[in-house]
Amino acid sequence: MKKNLICLALAGMAVTAFTACQSQSEGFSLEHQGDTLTLVHITRPAKYLILPIQETSGEAKVRLETGSPADCAMDIRLAMDSVDYYVPFALNGHATVSIRRIGADALCWDSLRLSDTFDTANRDYYRPVYHHTPLYGWMNDPNGMVYKDGEYHLYYQYNPYGSKWGNMHWGHSVSRDLIHWQHLDPAIARDTLGHIFSGSTVVDKDNTAGYGKDALIALYTSASDKYGQIQCMAYSTDNGRTYTKYEHNPILTPFDGLKDFRDPKVFWYEPDKKWIMIVSADKNMRFYSSTDLKEWTYLSQFGEGYGAQPNQFECPDFVQLPVDGNKDNMKWVMIVNINPGCMFGGSATEYFVGTFDGKAFKCDTKPQVTKWLDYGKDHYAAVCISNTGDRTIALPWMSNWQYANITPIKQYRGANGLPRELTLYTKDGQTYVAANVVPEAKALRKDSRAVEGFSLNGEHRIDNLTDGTDCAVELEMDITPGSAQTVGFDLLNEKGEKVKIYLDMKAGRLVMDRTESGITQLDGPNKGNYDVHVKETDDHRKSLSVNYRNDFALGTWAPLALCNGKTYHLDIFVDKCSVEIFVDGGRIAMTNLVFPTRPYDGLRFYSEGGQATVNNLTIHSLGL
Ligand code: FRU
Repeated sequence: MKKNLICLALAGMAVTAFTACQSQSEGFSLEHQGDTLTLVHITRPAKYLILPIQETSGEAKVRLETGSPADCAMDIRLAMDSVDYYVPFALNGHATVSIRRIGADALCWDSLRLSDTFDTANRDYYRPVYHHTPLYGWMNDPNGMVYKDGEYHLYYQYNPYGSKWGNMHWGHSVSRDLIHWQHLDPAIARDTLGHIFSGSTVVDKDNTAGYGKDALIALYTSASDKYGQIQCMAYSTDNGRTYTKYEHNPILTPFDGLKDFRDPKVFWYEPDKKWIMIVSADKNMRFYSSTDLKEWTYLSQFGEGYGAQPNQFECPDFVQLPVDGNKDNMKWVMIVNINPGCMFGGSATEYFVGTFDGKAFKCDTKPQVTKWLDYGKDHYAAVCISNTGDRTIALPWMSNWQYANITPIKQYRGANGLPRELTLYTKDGQTYVAANVVPEAKALRKDSRAVEGFSLNGEHRIDNLTDGTDCAVELEMDITPGSAQTVGFDLLNEKGEKVKIYLDMKAGRLVMDRTESGITQLDGPNKGNYDVHVKETDDHRKSLSVNYRNDFALGTWAPLALCNGKTYHLDIFVDKCSVEIFVDGGRIAMTNLVFPTRPYDGLRFYSEGGQATVNNLTIHSLGL
């Protein structure tokens, strides 16, 4: 607090309204102008001003002063009385940073420092071993994903200035195999039009927008209180590393002043040789068309009253897939991320199958039919990568808006689920999407242990699942329930924390129950725009039913009727804080976060009410 004491002393003596607090040895000085504005004067050039963050603080407004009207303040939870972690604030050669809305007596002033580097070494216990995460800061939706010249671009909703939602940028990682990701600088930064919300990127193969053949064109939502939610465009001619914002943004505003109008997904519609945009519009998806990606014409809308209720449509996608692999029978699939509306509370991904004539979507099923892309609670904002030819690859964000901001993590928050390949299959006269882990995930296998098949009429234990460090494993197995009413296993650790995974043959369900999985009470204020906290009650807390509904401690289930039956092939991916199950090639996908306080290390198989068998069990240790 030394600096502050000097400042206070100076304040006492000052005749002018402001005080200047010098700390030349540290390369900057602080000028507190009253209690609500501080100017940081940088006297020694450095790459970053390192900012101390306290997650429970209010948001200060921090702005790099470059003298341009485009200077934009970032909302940053500067430390008031203790520091949770630090974030770097890039100075880009400029000498003044203004900081508003935080008092001169806050702790942060003592912990500011200049640096040319920022240490991104992992400090979070729950950081996944092999799932994509940002190096630091907050991540939600994957967006703008596109494949070009051998690279998959994963852009994502990113806050570089703290591990809670805010300051939306498009963060950026690239991969050549969908598994190993390289972190790059954010590609599109929050600006004076607002946060850079979700959207999509296309390869402009025919130079329709005029930025050159094969330019990458990003379409995204700018969101602010001042201008609302409006669609904007930016282009990149350096393979997606940097984007230039279109000078005449926005390119599209809602014709009826809708408040929720966001997340444009754009694709080329070959029959009409035009671009189509699908954009979420409250409880609908709206379609627009364009020939140059700049002028858009409204076509139609679909959705109100369809699927799970109540809901708010977000993050659409619209893809065409062959039914049962038959290219002569193509169907359109509308992917709709909804929040709230998940059958287990909070956010989830549903989809509709139907036809599209270049203008409007017609759904094959009645409004009350809901089909889920994933039956877990931590699968959201799933959209597909553009320009992947015959393959359709989706990537989810692995969290739920109910508790995404309060998971037991600090340095970074947010991970992606494994990429999934989407295909269509038919079952009992209905068409469904299978979402199976991509074959590229096999590259994660470091070591494989085959376990001889066994019959189950009681218990069967397998210990030492891993080498005792991280539980990063894939478990493959074929389960035949036979006469058993329940068959499954607990994935457990030395403390008895467990994830219960089982087939309930009477109810016809696959269940993943995380009520005893480790840390299960994620408490804390659920602040922000996304306050859809479902209150738990004591009754709920006591119940062990799989319909048990509280925010985190619960079981999720999927109907086994989607599968072929008799024998079920389970492919399960366990990482530091997640379990993803794929059954029968993705006919069921189920993604859930778990926070065990020790790595899971064993399996306890069991059957009840009859004899079951487990065959082809292989335990793969996974790593990058
Ligand atoms: C979905 C979402 C989007 C929005 C983004 C903001 O999770 O609410 O609709 O674009 O997050 O970060």
